[in-house]
Amino acid sequence: MSPPELVLGVDTSCDDTAAAVVEDGLRVRSNVIASQADLHARYGGVVPEIACRAHVEALLPVIEEALRRAGAGFPDLAGIAVTRGPGLVGALLLGMTATKVLAWVHDRPLVAVNHIDGHIYATRLADPELDYPYVALVASGGHTSLHLAEAPTRSRLLGTTIDDAAGEAFDKVATVLGLSYPGGPAIERTAAAGAGDPGSVRFPRTSLGPGSLDFSFSGLKTAVLYHLKGHGARRRGGTVRPDASIPDVAAAFQEAVVDVLVRNALRACEATVVHRLSIGGGVACNQRLRVRMAEEAHRRGVRVSFAPKDLCLDNAAMIAGLGFHLLREGRAEGLEFDAEPRQDLRRAGVGA
Ligand code: KG4
Ligand code: ZN
Repeated sequence: MSPPELVLGVDTSCDDTAAAVVEDGLRVRSNVIASQADLHARYGGVVPEIACRAHVEALLPVIEEALRRAGAGFPDLAGIAVTRGPGLVGALLLGMTATKVLAWVHDRPLVAVNHIDGHIYATRLADPELDYPYVALVASGGHTSLHLAEAPTRSRLLGTTIDDAAGEAFDKVATVLGLSYPGGPAIERTAAAGAGDPGSVRFPRTSLGPGSLDFSFSGLKTAVLYHLKGHGARRRGGTVRPDASIPDVAAAFQEAVVDVLVRNALRACEATVVHRLSIGGGVACNQRLRVRMAEEAHRRGVRVSFAPKDLCLDNAAMIAGLGFHLLREGRAEGLEFDAEPRQDLRRAGVGA
């Protein structure tokens, strides 16, 4: 039997500094994440300059900790995998520069990984029995898209948001509701703790056509804003309970996002005739989404897999896991590759 192949993954695409070691593309030996959420909370969103400064401080300690927890050193690594995009360009460059130096100093191959492809792969780390092909919903603060995953290193885009990402809508609506950042957990907590009624306000569930797999969340965000300004009832024909409280609005908004994500994900399964579905990205932490998606998937005979929260949120285990497969295919880079902060999703292929 050949010895296990360890890959170190690094992700600095947004506001988390993450490093992980994964064995043979599946077994997570360590998964370390230094969250910057507290630093950005007072601004209600990620401030790129603050993110970069925090990455500079956290990067090497986080990498060292990931290796320490995995009981590995650089000589034990089959390679290093790093996120090249999409994400904040300055943040991406920090992770890339650090791993380029480490790869050079320790003479290890380096592979560049697409962050979204990482989210598509993440579910397999928790559920190795999730067979290909599967439909993957990625719903996070930066992206909301549906993919057909045909192999670890091959996927096809089925649909994407034409405006806001689902998590971005959570974050923006949380701000107008006076809730904390990040908005997703705050809205979920507020809706649950205040026993919010999801039926108190009927917010729009935008569909971009009968069979469309694309998403749009900006109308929903605007509807919440109108509602809070007292115009909601007039705009949508009186479906609004006039005394709807903040927990009610939070629950009604959450329900609208969940409805759209469930609808499109199951539409994608139907359109592709694939009955395996993976849900990833930060919004996949949402308990209401998990329950509703599981119910609907069950009704339609679709096997649905959710990764645990630490693999749904940004992490480097998904980068290391996918990096293993890319390295196997001989797709290591030289040290010259650039960041791709705004990769066009329509053309994105696995491995960036
Ligand atoms: O995947 P992620 O960590 O970073 C990006 O790649 O964007 O996702 C972060 C996003 C944030 O917008 C956050 O509000 C959202 O995921 N999120 C949630 C929940 N937990 C995190 N949204 C809804 N419900 C949650 N429980
Ligand atoms: Zn992400």
